[in-house]
Amino acid sequence: AGELRELLAGRIRDVPDYPEPGVLFKDITPLLADPEAFGALTGVLAGLCRERGATKVVGLEARGFILAAPAAVRAGLGFIPVRKAGKLPGATLSQAYELEYGSAEIEIHAEDLVPDDRVLVIDDVLATGGTAEASLRLIRRTGARVAGVAVLMELSFLPGRARLEAALEGAPLDVVLTV
Ligand code: PRP
Ligand code: MG
Repeated sequence: AGELRELLAGRIRDVPDYPEPGVLFKDITPLLADPEAFGALTGVLAGLCRERGATKVVGLEARGFILAAPAAVRAGLGFIPVRKAGKLPGATLSQAYELEYGSAEIEIHAEDLVPDDRVLVIDDVLATGGTAEASLRLIRRTGARVAGVAVLMELSFLPGRARLEAALEGAPLDVVLTV
């Protein structure tokens, strides 16, 4: 497990002052370009799908899609996209959430989840927790249950875990790397 974390951590590039001064950006593109690392991560996430008893996998646009889709396929589960507002053509549910500056809105196709579903949400980074929290609200509004949230990285210097705590309602948060 330690070796796996080293493999993954070694393929994440720190980019200072991106996208703005003072922010340290965690660039996962070297990890994605390495089939050994990307394959190992996909395997870990697929294992979590099974461990958490998920029936469907939700990925959060955009970087969450890259990790959630191969994990879903590998776990033999359907992949459901949560998209930024205005991108889904069917009947949607929308959820607004607060960002550090301003607000954002995400959507899901209402018919993609049913009350019997147990949903694992996958994203790349847990930062302030706003995106993940909004996705859990969306999922619950479909009547489906939350099997958990899984992220590649938790930014431990931000209060994302605390913000997500209430929205998890006891469901597990799985973190591959704490940075
Ligand atoms: C980033 C990241 C997470 C989210 C984490 O997505 O991929 O989804 O922010 O931040 P939070 O915990 O403070 O909500 P972003 O919306 O920047 O864009 P992208 O995934 O479309 O690149
Ligand atoms: Mg994102």
